[in-house]
Amino acid sequence: MRPGPFRLERYFAEHEFTVPYLLCCSDCESLRIDDLLQMEPGARDRFLSLGLGYTESTGSPELRREIASLYEENTPDHILVHSGAEEAIFNFMNVMLQPGDHIIVHSPFYQSLGEVARSIGAEVVAWEGDSARSWELDLDRLKEKLTDRTRVVVVNFPHNPTGFLPKADFIGELSRLSDEHGFVVFSDEVYRGLEYDPDRRLPPFADVNERAISLGVMSKTYGLAGLRIGWIATRNEKIFRELAQFKDFTTICNSGPSEFLATLALRHRKSIVDRNLKIIRSNLGRLNSFFEGHTDLFEWQEPKAGPIAFPRYLGASIEQFCRELIREAGVLLLPGSLYGEGRGFFRIGFGRKNMSEGLDRLHEYIRDSR
Ligand SMILES: Cc1ncc(COP(=O)(O)O)c(C=O)c1O
Repeated sequence: MRPGPFRLERYFAEHEFTVPYLLCCSDCESLRIDDLLQMEPGARDRFLSLGLGYTESTGSPELRREIASLYEENTPDHILVHSGAEEAIFNFMNVMLQPGDHIIVHSPFYQSLGEVARSIGAEVVAWEGDSARSWELDLDRLKEKLTDRTRVVVVNFPHNPTGFLPKADFIGELSRLSDEHGFVVFSDEVYRGLEYDPDRRLPPFADVNERAISLGVMSKTYGLAGLRIGWIATRNEKIFRELAQFKDFTTICNSGPSEFLATLALRHRKSIVDRNLKIIRSNLGRLNSFFEGHTDLFEWQEPKAGPIAFPRYLGASIEQFCRELIREAGVLLLPGSLYGEGRGFFRIGFGRKNMSEGLDRLHEYIRDSR
């Protein structure tokens, strides 16, 4: 079976390059190649003299070293670089799952985290965050869903689209359950590093549990989606080996120029992430004021981390509201139905510098349509 259409990506394919004000992007402010090259003396010359042959299929040693420095227990040998997080998700599901297997996915979820498994013939069961309790996940609910066919549990912290982040003891307990019941945790951590309170940052799951997989990417926290560089970290040798073999059928190796730029960006990640968090904090202040002024129309819960939130529209139809907003004001929001969440929620993104312009248009549109 082939995966069904990726609703969210189809929506972006239609609107991302035609709607002027993007108010639902999930990444942070991007950089130009030139900005990166200026971060280090000699980088420009080294970049221009790069060869364009095949690269090492696991990822260049320099890049794997930089990535491994994000982990305590995972070394460069535990890092497998992919073309974006998307390739890693696709390949992981393919090596792990057979028709009839059971997989539990933290929900609402970025569609590929469940859809690839479904296309393989696995039974996909949602583990829902509680919208009434800041999208809290309940481990007792997980225990009720486990079966002897459960191969994988997928979690995503900080969460897309709600910004939910559990406490550290939650991670310990999930790891214990994984060992007790034998399922593997696939932990999507593509927004890690964007916690508003650094004390709330969770350890990578692959550091906590030897069989687990942590997923990372340059796209979100670092704002470098165009590099298409993602990775998995795992001490699970069997899964690592199978993923490395599977990758020979998808991309073989990564783009050399992208690996070079990703290595450079990770070496200077502190300044990039500090800048992105500054943008997020300032935008979040504006969003808090905006929603305070529109409590008749929206329900707002401030997220704990990341550049996206999932407020609720209290009018009749969020889909219609979003359609009219595109047509009348040129502003793009993303209806929650694209996540299979049909209760009026929508995604708003605030990782980019020009967010205020879109928010001002939204404010004017609401004012003028009353
Ligand atoms: C939770 C999550 N995982 C994975 C991805 C895929 O990342 P990339 O597009 O960089 O491959 C995304 C992108 O939106 C995401 O939000």
